[in-house]
Amino acid sequence: MQAPHAAVTNVAGAAAILRAGGLVIMPTETVYGLAGDAGDPAAVARIFEAKGRPRFNPLIAHVADRGDAERIAALNPQAQALAEAFWPGPLTIVAPARPGGGVCDLARAGLETVAVRPPAHPVAQALLAAFGGPIVAPSANRSGRPSPTTLADALEETGAAVGAALDGGPCNVGLESTVVACLDGQVRLLRAGGLERARIEAVVGPLAGEGGHAGRSPGRTVLHYAPDAPVRLDAAAPRAGEAYLAFGPAPQGDLVWNLSSAGDVREAATNLFAMLRAADRARPAAIAVAPIPETGLGEAINDRLRRAAGYIG
Ligand code: TXA
Ligand code: MG
Repeated sequence: MQAPHAAVTNVAGAAAILRAGGLVIMPTETVYGLAGDAGDPAAVARIFEAKGRPRFNPLIAHVADRGDAERIAALNPQAQALAEAFWPGPLTIVAPARPGGGVCDLARAGLETVAVRPPAHPVAQALLAAFGGPIVAPSANRSGRPSPTTLADALEETGAAVGAALDGGPCNVGLESTVVACLDGQVRLLRAGGLERARIEAVVGPLAGEGGHAGRSPGRTVLHYAPDAPVRLDAAAPRAGEAYLAFGPAPQGDLVWNLSSAGDVREAATNLFAMLRAADRARPAAIAVAPIPETGLGEAINDRLRRAAGYIG
């Protein structure tokens, strides 16, 4: 596909575009984001339009650090403990929004809560410092497609909508952040992601289910993260005409991509979306995927794969 014409630019130029209400492709350690000024409803509307995203799906506000998070969200003791342990990093916390906190209603989809995350990526941190306020950014894919983990993939998805793009290299986590809600004395897992459940549970104890939050998460819809080709899961081997995403020792082949020949789920997470895209570009009859263990980041990988395959989640 033809890459559109967004200028790959420097951080100061990108911050100026955000200030003028434009959009920017922003690298983070999880996936590339489609960034806009959190306080500007017109910019946020442009984000929804570029993604083709239903407006009731709220966005994550990215901030530099915990202090800036506290200005927009009321963090309870459990949220504080998680922030202390894992920020900056691939953990998003949903908490009550502070009135006048600077994340507009449209970005929060009218909710009284806000999702907040300080990204660990140095280019994202530099953009936050240059801009000086919260930046909303969904993953930079069009709605329902795999998240981009390289600048080239991000430009292919939403490059036509942005005034600037920042190159941060390939994302080293490769999966979107884990989203938890800290609203009611329980810590609820809303989306499995780039921070493993076990690490969160080591800090706050067992995670509760999503409770009343189901349906507010685009990750809960079928055929999210989907390539064009159908996806077949738990495949021991490819059938004729299929591309194959292997895991662990496997024979090589023209249509074979190995998520991790060492059988490492972290490496598989890093490779997942880029390899789904590469396999899809070969226009196979289907993309068959080897079984992935449910341990560690395997929980989030399997969640994304089941959605890509169109299984009910
Ligand atoms: O790693 C990531 O999280 C990436 C990078 C760019 O930061 N962003 C990302 O954003 O994946 P997005 O918009 O694709 O996913 C945001 C998730 C959705 O599942 C959304 O429903 C949930 O966060 N979310 C946002 N605000 C919420 C709220 N107030 N209540 C419940 N869920 C919320
Ligand atoms: Mg997304």
